[in-house]
Amino acid sequence: MRKALVIGNWKQNGSIASVKALADSVVSSCLDESVDVAVCPAALHLPVVAPLLGDAIALGAQDVSEYSGGAYTGQISAAMLVETGCQYVLVGHSERRALCAESSVAVGVKAKSALGSGLTPVVCVGETLDERKANQTEAVIFEQLDGFFSALGSDELTQCVIAYEPVWAIGSGLSASAEQAGEVHAAIRTKLESYAAGSGAVIRILYGGSVKPGNAAEIFAQPDVDGGLIGGAALDAADFSAIVSAASGSGE
Ligand code: PGA
Repeated sequence: MRKALVIGNWKQNGSIASVKALADSVVSSCLDESVDVAVCPAALHLPVVAPLLGDAIALGAQDVSEYSGGAYTGQISAAMLVETGCQYVLVGHSERRALCAESSVAVGVKAKSALGSGLTPVVCVGETLDERKANQTEAVIFEQLDGFFSALGSDELTQCVIAYEPVWAIGSGLSASAEQAGEVHAAIRTKLESYAAGSGAVIRILYGGSVKPGNAAEIFAQPDVDGGLIGGAALDAADFSAIVSAASGSGE
């Protein structure tokens, strides 16, 4: 049984006042116990949002250092995130892979560092439009997964969440179709199984990329889609709660 999970990635948005208001609205509108819900504010907003979430909504960070501590200017360790109340952390978001040149192996090291402190890493993978057009989707994603898995043990793998986020669908308004998402999710699940027998059945695989209230239910209805990683629509509590409701009952 995989419980549905919906995560709001607030990216580099908001002020202290606006994230407080958003957190309050999410807490009062996302009440579905059949779905795990988390929000990922910017790092400086984590301690602002943490006390507002109660037990129903989990806190997540958008990145974590590969290193446990020391002379790494600007980095935030997994232990610091845990102390601030985080349960989840995104690793390898395509914006970080592109802007910060994060390699898949570095993503794996980050995931390992997160797991070492008790955080659940949400490992993002996805292809660009050019790669999809060149029929490279599976190859690209498998390479990303191979790099990430090279840093982990099999028992650590089962504690991760995977997010399939086609780069061309992020923030573009152009979501993958339910069939496209379903196909890639099924391929990812088979690949996970090849790393560790039994892992394919337990690891939650989220879809991300222009999920909106209007397309969420269809995407989440795919058997291998266990919820969503939501960007733009997560900044509007009404849209986000509609997406959470669409995930209700979609768990396997
Ligand atoms: P989007 O972003 O929902 O705005 O497309 C998703 C993400 O980047 O996680």
